[in-house]
Amino acid sequence: MNYGFIGTGLMGAPMVERLLKQNITPTIYNRTRSKTNELEKAGAIVADTPEELIKKSDTIIFMLSDFYALSESMFPNKKIDYTGKTVLQMSTIAPGENVILAERVVKNGGDYIEAPVLGSIPQIKAGELITIFGGTEEQFAKWGDFFKVFGEKVIYTGKLGSASSVKLALNHLIASLTAAFSLSLGYLREQNIDHNIFMDILRGSALYAPTFDKKLNNMLDGNFSNPNFPLKHMLKDVKLMLHEFGHSGLNTPQLEGVEEIIKNALEQGLGEKDYSSLYKGVHEK
Ligand SMILES: NC(=O)c1ccc[n+]([C@@H]2O[C@H](COP(=O)([O-])OP(=O)(O)OC[C@H]3O[C@@H](n4cnc5c(N)ncnc54)[C@H](OP(=O)(O)O)[C@@H]3O)[C@@H](O)[C@H]2O)c1
Repeated sequence: MNYGFIGTGLMGAPMVERLLKQNITPTIYNRTRSKTNELEKAGAIVADTPEELIKKSDTIIFMLSDFYALSESMFPNKKIDYTGKTVLQMSTIAPGENVILAERVVKNGGDYIEAPVLGSIPQIKAGELITIFGGTEEQFAKWGDFFKVFGEKVIYTGKLGSASSVKLALNHLIASLTAAFSLSLGYLREQNIDHNIFMDILRGSALYAPTFDKKLNNMLDGNFSNPNFPLKHMLKDVKLMLHEFGHSGLNTPQLEGVEEIIKNALEQGLGEKDYSSLYKGVHEK
């Protein structure tokens, strides 16, 4: 089996490292070639173009920003041939976007699996990434175990598109919990009330989520460097949620507020920073 991996960004690079550690030598491609240098030194083979990579691989993993990046890289020209090949699409995009890409891959002779993930760089390194698998039961029987290379938990959600719905529902909690915590923390700081008092009560209550402690120091210090999940991608996900949730007949004013908070932080130049920088969208001081 020849594996290809397109997109060696924050998530893709450690995922390729994991493949290498499991004695899988993938061919890799990244638009900005310099991001493949370290992986090449570690043993990966670098392709010059997506076409070259797709041609020589049987299984192609995509880990790119969004639908636009995927469309460009999955179909770099009209004649791209996926006969006998399988696409494992692991980026976070909308259910309908996965359906569009899948139809095109199948039309070009290939097989397509949707497999977004929960977890970030530390979870990849620890082999604890959770893969959410959307596709047929036959596809899951054939491919489910492969994703254990990234983490033991591979969860089957049902038909194509359903994994992305679950992923967006999970990311909704990341965005909304972070925004809610930012507002509480910002308010107490403006009142000059020791945040430790608040945290002590919170930690012992049913309202607590571990993510609050993970991001507390970032927010207190205003230090959002070394992102695992950049704020710009959280905005991309919130936009997908607003579209999806709205089309499901749900009222989304709370989420629209979160979008405004993120946009405010992005206007302060925080797009490449950790998503906890959305705190600055609430509390600008
Ligand atoms: N980071 C996380 O914690 C996390 C967790 C779960 C899921 N995800 C999802 O995983 C995906 C990748 O995230 P990431 O954090 O690895 O992002 P990232 O570091 O920004 O990497 C994005 C990748 O997409 C490529 N790309 C962007 N636009 C492109 C285009 N028009 N044509 C070709 N390539 C393009 C980038 O290439 P360049 O290097 O040339 O820019 C890079 O390889 C996203 O869908 C994200 O939502 C992220």
